[in-house]
Order: sequence, then C-alpha cells, then structure tokens
Amino acid sequence: MPEIRFLLNGVPHVARDIDPNTTLLDHLRASGRTGTKEGCGEGECGACAVALLSRGPDGTARYETVNSCLLLTAAVAGREVLTVEGIAQGDVLHPCQEEMARAGGSQCGYCTPGFVVSLFSEYYRAKSGPLDEESIGGNLCRCTGYRPIREAGQRLAQIRAKQLAARTDDPHRARLAKAVPPLPAVDYAPLANNQPRRFVRPLSLLEACRVRAKEPHLVPLSGGTDLVVELNQRHRRLDGMLSLEAVPELKTFENGKQHLAIGAGVSLAEVEERLHQDKALGDHLVMLKELLPLFSSRLIRTRATFGGNLGTASPIGDGPPALLALGAELVLAKHDDQYGVSLRFVPLDQFFLDYRKTALEPDEIIVEVRIPKPFPEIQRFFKVSKRRMDDISTVAAGFVLDLDPRGLVARARLAYGGVAATPKRATRTETSLVGKRLTAESVARGRSLLAAEFSPIDDHRGSGAYRRAMVLRLYDKFFDEVRQGDFTEATARTSGGVS
Ligand code: FES
Ligand code: FES
Repeated sequence: MPEIRFLLNGVPHVARDIDPNTTLLDHLRASGRTGTKEGCGEGECGACAVALLSRGPDGTARYETVNSCLLLTAAVAGREVLTVEGIAQGDVLHPCQEEMARAGGSQCGYCTPGFVVSLFSEYYRAKSGPLDEESIGGNLCRCTGYRPIREAGQRLAQIRAKQLAARTDDPHRARLAKAVPPLPAVDYAPLANNQPRRFVRPLSLLEACRVRAKEPHLVPLSGGTDLVVELNQRHRRLDGMLSLEAVPELKTFENGKQHLAIGAGVSLAEVEERLHQDKALGDHLVMLKELLPLFSSRLIRTRATFGGNLGTASPIGDGPPALLALGAELVLAKHDDQYGVSLRFVPLDQFFLDYRKTALEPDEIIVEVRIPKPFPEIQRFFKVSKRRMDDISTVAAGFVLDLDPRGLVARARLAYGGVAATPKRATRTETSLVGKRLTAESVARGRSLLAAEFSPIDDHRGSGAYRRAMVLRLYDKFFDEVRQGDFTEATARTSGGVS
C-alpha cells in the first residue's frame, strides 16, 4: 500500500509515497498546513501540537493533544486529526482562539497554535469545573508570559459551562458523542524509495510476533516519543517500523490479586488517569503517582508507554528506577510454531544488560509490566533535574522499604537512574539494611557501601562527582523522612528540581 489515509480537519486526506520516517509535523507543513509550527523537534515546546480523536479508558471519544513532531505520519493512518486550521468554524473563531486573543495571550504568535490546540482538547475534556492547567504544561511561550494565557483558560471554563447549559450547537462536541473507529491494520511501503522502507501495524499479538520473527529489522515502535527524537535530532532513518499501537494484548490494565499488570502499550497518561480514578490503588502506588506528573509533559505522556520507556533502556529514563524499586517483572512474547505465541517472564533487574542493551531477544516483544503485591509500605520517587517539570533527569531514584512488626527492615529496594550505564539497584546497600533495625548506625553502614555501587560519568547534565553526591543525598533525604515517619499520602512529595 503506497498511501496513508486519515481524516484531517474533518476531510479525508491521503499522504502518498512519503518516507515512513516522515513526521506528521513535516507532512502537515509540506502540504501547506503551516499553522502547526516547529520549535524544538523533540517534544519540549508544544508549538507542533495537534489533537487526535482517541478513545479513553472508558471507551468514550475524547480529543488528546500530542506533539506532531514526535508522531510519524503513518501512525495516524485511519485516525482523525485536528490542526489549528480545523478548530474554527469558517470565519467564526473557536472560543479557545477568541479568548487567547481577548486576554492578550499572543505576541509573536509562534507558540499560539500549540496553546490553542492544547486548550481545545482540555475544553472538551471535562464537563464542568476549571480547566486543568497541566493541559498546557507542555507548551512554552517565550514572549507573552503565562498570566494572560492562564486567564484565557479560566474564561474558557466559564464559557464552556454556559454553552453546555444553553446546549449550544458545537460540531466538535457532536463528534465526541459518536464512536471512535478502531485502528486499522497498516502495511505501508512507498513506491518512490531507493531502499524499501515499511511501516507495519498489526492488530493482534500473534500477528505482531509473526512479523517480529520474520522481519527483526523492523524496529518496534510504541508511542515513538523517544525514537522519533533520534530521527529528528540525529537524522537517523529506519528501514522499517513495527507499530504495536493497535495490539489489544498490549493495552490491558488489570489490578489482580497477585500483581498489577500494565500493558506495555498503555499510555502513561492513561496509567495516571487510572491511578487517579481508583483511589485505593493510587494510594498504594504512591511511587507511580509521584513519578508520572514529573515524566515530561502531558503531551508526551499521552503517547509514551512503559513498554517504550523500558525497551529503549535509557540510563536516564524516569520509569526504570521506580519500577525496579517496586520489584517489577516483564512479560515478553515471541512467535511459537506450536502455540502461536510463547511467553517469557523476566525480572526487571535482570532486563538491563549494558548501555541501551536489554535481555529482549530480536524476535521478542514486551507485552506487560507486572508490579507484584503486596505493594511496599513505604515508597518514594525522587527526580533531580534542572527544572522541576518537563525536564530530563540528571539523577532519579525510587526507594521502597517495609518494616516488620518488630521494626526490622523486611524489604529494601533502592534503585537509581543516571548513575551507571543502566538503571540499577544498590543491592549491597539493600542487603546491609535487611534484617536490621533502622538506626543511625545501620543507615550509615548502608551509606558507606552506597557510593561504591555506582560509577557515574560526566556529561552536559552533570558531572560524575555531582551525581555521586546526589546518590548519597537522596539516600539521606529518604531515611530522614522515614525517621520522621513522613509517609502519609497527603505529605508525599517529590524532589523534582532539586539540584
Ligand atoms: Fe517542539 Fe514539537 S516542535 S514539541
Ligand atoms: Fe511569542 Fe509565545 S507569543 S512565543
């Protein structure tokens, strides 16, 4: 199939013969939709924001804002995409546009389409109450300042309430009342290519495993928020991609008796939403509730997945330290002649082998992340970064601790990111703590082992010496808080921005 079809601003659109490496942003701009802007090309500014019609966890339709610079055009095959050009109704501006203009939320205007699209999705997200300011957390403005943009958001909440009460006609809201069609299978290969390049999107795990076994050169792709940065910034070109986005077995979220199973393809925004909706679950997984808001911006989290975050094996990924501390296990699948698919279970602490190297075989797919129960009593996630929000960590840490009724340490897991070639647990320190009462001496003994467990290197985010200091500092902070008994959910805090 040499073409990609999708609905663009309500009109059928065909992208013909483009390289599968082409981002939606590049395609939109090349086809004349220049309202969508390019700023950074790596998911940090939101100038490229577009809205995708998506299905929420409850099956209802919603608009979700994503960064089109990190979205491949082939990935929107069969989807409905709205750009800033499709929001107004003819000459009548959408309230998001009108309020941005009225509040003076735009000066040079470069960031404005991105803000408008983010506000647009949020406008239709909730039925009442204020707009969630986090919805524009992934949009940067260099010249206006955020006060007028916030004011526009506040006014929009009032306008939305009035329009809902008056039942005003709104084609975008009417669209949300209808079903979202399922993603179709894709096997796209442009004709006009010197080298054959493909984008394949199967509809089942069995089919995905078959393709993976037959064509291991196709790079598995989930949300693409890491991989597409490489295409943009390092000009890497892939011969083919195996998109796992339409594989239902990777989209499950099951809170079972033995473990919580999170499908490798569930977006981080959905995990966040589910932990928020299920208060009991969220209260027992404080680690994830603390981690997720610090994991880049909502625009990224809408596409990013734990499967992708673990599969790329970045030593500075935010997910691994938290999941290592929670004792997570991965379920991997591959094609099997007899059963169709066979599964393999790998503890996460045996998954990372070396820098960007994992135990995943070339014919395997990550299906699920399992967090065993009972969840640890005491959990804390720390992130050291230059900015508190929407930044890459210099050092990240996930710590858990269980004390038995006698006050002895029954379980300790201390995991770090950014201080070795792989995300890693401080196993010698953990062993020294287990079975001991938490005293100044036992904590100090653990600390004396800790520094030798990691060998951080210098890079532009921080020197090795700084990182080594942070390893100890976060350990001290954690045990200071444990000693103060400061571990109720209400007081749980993260240390994003500590530097
Ligand atoms: Fe900056 Fe896409 S261009 S987030
Ligand atoms: Fe200029 Fe926001 S109005 S960057």
